Amino acid sequence: MMHSNTVLGRPLTLPCGATLTNRIAKAAMSEHLATKRQMPGERLIRLYSEWSRSGAAMLLSGNVMVDPTHLESRRNVAMKPDLDVDAFRRWARAGTSGGNHFWMQLNHPGRQTPASVHPEPCAPSAGEAVDLFKRAGAFAPPRAMTLAEVDACIEAFARAAAIAKDTGFTGVQVHGAHGYLVNQFLTPLINKRSDHWGGSTIAERARFLRAVIRAIRDAVGPDFPIGLKLNSADFQHGGFNERESMQVLQMMQEDTVDLVEISGGSYEARAMFDGAQEPRSNEVFFLDYAEKARALVDIPMMVTGGFRTRAIMEESIESGWLDVVGMARPFTNNTRVAQQLLSGEIDKALDPPPVLGLSWLKGAGAAAMSVVQMAAIANGRDPTARFSGARALIAVAKHELSALKRAKKPHG
Ligand SMILES: Cc1cc2nc3c(=O)[nH]c(=O)nc-3n(C[C@H](O)[C@H](O)[C@H](O)COP(=O)(O)O)c2cc1C
Repeated sequence: MMHSNTVLGRPLTLPCGATLTNRIAKAAMSEHLATKRQMPGERLIRLYSEWSRSGAAMLLSGNVMVDPTHLESRRNVAMKPDLDVDAFRRWARAGTSGGNHFWMQLNHPGRQTPASVHPEPCAPSAGEAVDLFKRAGAFAPPRAMTLAEVDACIEAFARAAAIAKDTGFTGVQVHGAHGYLVNQFLTPLINKRSDHWGGSTIAERARFLRAVIRAIRDAVGPDFPIGLKLNSADFQHGGFNERESMQVLQMMQEDTVDLVEISGGSYEARAMFDGAQEPRSNEVFFLDYAEKARALVDIPMMVTGGFRTRAIMEESIESGWLDVVGMARPFTNNTRVAQQLLSGEIDKALDPPPVLGLSWLKGAGAAAMSVVQMAAIANGRDPTARFSGARALIAVAKHELSALKRAKKPHG
């Protein structure tokens, strides 16, 4: 593991006792590289063995589905009842081969399950379909989860965490951001339940998240890192807001969560890709939040969204507002990006090139290019070598078409 003289090279010990060797982590990216059975395969394994040499102290996997009937994408890993334990072991071994941490991100998409995967997705309450590609019927209106389903879902998170630990992952992260199920329970726009799992206060709406964390802790024991990805806000009128998010941080500190990663937005308000707050540094999205949160809690915090410049990363860690710098897209463009920032070889991480120079595509365009680049790395190619101009556009279009074809297959 690379050492450096900057604050970015300082180790960090988490409440559970685990240590991160430096302050750079690769944030979760949905890889779309699972096998047809939604298991980790050779391509996913190759991608993570590359990233294990990136210099990041910790890698987060793309979101792994805790319930195989509710998928964010058919091309990602799911916790099926008959899963291939050996494949998970090989994935974990590849992702930790550089001596770094490798945490599995656990997710249930709730209402953000595409209609092609589930014609009637579930959510805390029945309501409107997700407002994205509405004319194409991309998402169906959700129905409310029964009490038994809520209990089963908490169990599914705990089972998934136990499998992650048993197969060699060194931590787990609950996806509580970006409009997925845990986030849906937190937001009053979606959670209108009048039972134990809902209510007008954030203390009531956070019960589901706290039950998930408790069940995971019971399953993995006190020494295993548990992280949470949390929205600083949903950026929707009447949605989960900054004040409530900070209250959740206080609860997470009480519940001994080891690292909270701050992000924001959902499918309907994509703040995670472009930011939505006034960016203090014209680069990082959620720094103002981190500064305010630091006055309230001392839970270890990671902030993800926009970090590119080494000087800004160093300043942010030195200020004490955050403990870990999270980065996603630059890792698809440069598989050694953290190592090069730590050693001073580069001063700035680069984003994937915009598809055909269409920088107005902003987040969505850059995200598509990241998916193409992940596939290139997984196939043993240089992610920057082949995809420029028209070729990139064709690659993105081909990728989207094959995703559509697979999504249209009947559920099985
Ligand atoms: C292709 C792609 C897939 C993503 N998938 C996930 C995911 O599975 N889970 C998650 O929490 N965030 C996901 N994100 C969001 C990133 O973790 C991160 O929050 C966002 O890209 C902002 O960070 P960046 O500016 O460093 O890229 C994804 C981002 C991209 C580009």
